[in-house]
Amino acid sequence: MNPLQTHIRGLTLENPVMNASGIWCTTLEELNQIGHSQSGAIVTKSMTLKERNGNPEPRFAVEEGYSVNSMGLPNPGVDYYCQHVKNLERGGKPVIASIAGFSVQEYTELMARVARQPFDAVEVNLSCPNLESKGIFAYDLETASTILEKLRGMLTAPMGVKLPPYGTRNEISQTAKRFVELGVDFVTLVNSYPLGCAIDADTRKLKIAPNGGVGGLGGKALKPIALGQVLLFAQESDHKLAIIGVGGVDSGRDVIEYLTAGASAVQIATALHTESPSIFKRINKELLLFMKEKHIASLSDIIGTVKSAQ
Ligand code: DHB
Repeated sequence: MNPLQTHIRGLTLENPVMNASGIWCTTLEELNQIGHSQSGAIVTKSMTLKERNGNPEPRFAVEEGYSVNSMGLPNPGVDYYCQHVKNLERGGKPVIASIAGFSVQEYTELMARVARQPFDAVEVNLSCPNLESKGIFAYDLETASTILEKLRGMLTAPMGVKLPPYGTRNEISQTAKRFVELGVDFVTLVNSYPLGCAIDADTRKLKIAPNGGVGGLGGKALKPIALGQVLLFAQESDHKLAIIGVGGVDSGRDVIEYLTAGASAVQIATALHTESPSIFKRINKELLLFMKEKHIASLSDIIGTVKSAQ
């Protein structure tokens, strides 16, 4: 029995660590590199109906302890991924398609195309922070529900939703309960905090150009925010939603924290960008060492087992 094996509903992963959508996953070459690595799954860049160049540069700044990005969904379009998924060097790993539309109709069209292809799951991205003029779909629960109700009926594979950080427990409670009713299988928590900003003191310049210098905040600074979302979504869904944690993961101990809070797997964004896909091997090694030291036989023994501080 592989001690690192984990499950996201029907999917079996040989380990709980994978790339986050957007990092190292836009081209076939990058996706193959994830396939050859020790990632537990392969997640695509959020694909749109048409090819996009994204926002003007500079659009990604990695700083000490955090990152800010406003990429603007650069990707070769849904047909590219549908064409290449059959030949992907996946190394036995599940492949998760991330989709991002600009309207209910576009999400439906995207799902119609990916549902016909050998993707093992679909992560519906309702939380892209970088699209000027469009709000974040997930913050409007009625529109989000309309989208998810339509998409659920189109896919037999597991369907997940990538969400932004919420500011109140009430929003999390309502969202979690509605998603359970709608038959959502998993939630990916969380996308970058939407209104981050980085400034260079020497030049007094903003570090990224699009959207007036404001974009998605990720990296270590996001970790306590994401952990709180994982903890509350697990509670408020009565543990009926599987959870993938994302935000500031760059060590085996980070993975343990997310799993203890209620996640079944984690994704890596900023640290994958900095360290390359060899990061998966390092983190899995750290995880195994930690489990050995603490006499944890299987990850399923710790998922959602967080204890109170008293
Ligand atoms: C982009 C950023 C995101 O956080 C996301 O979920 C999708 C796309 C981007 O700017 O490309």
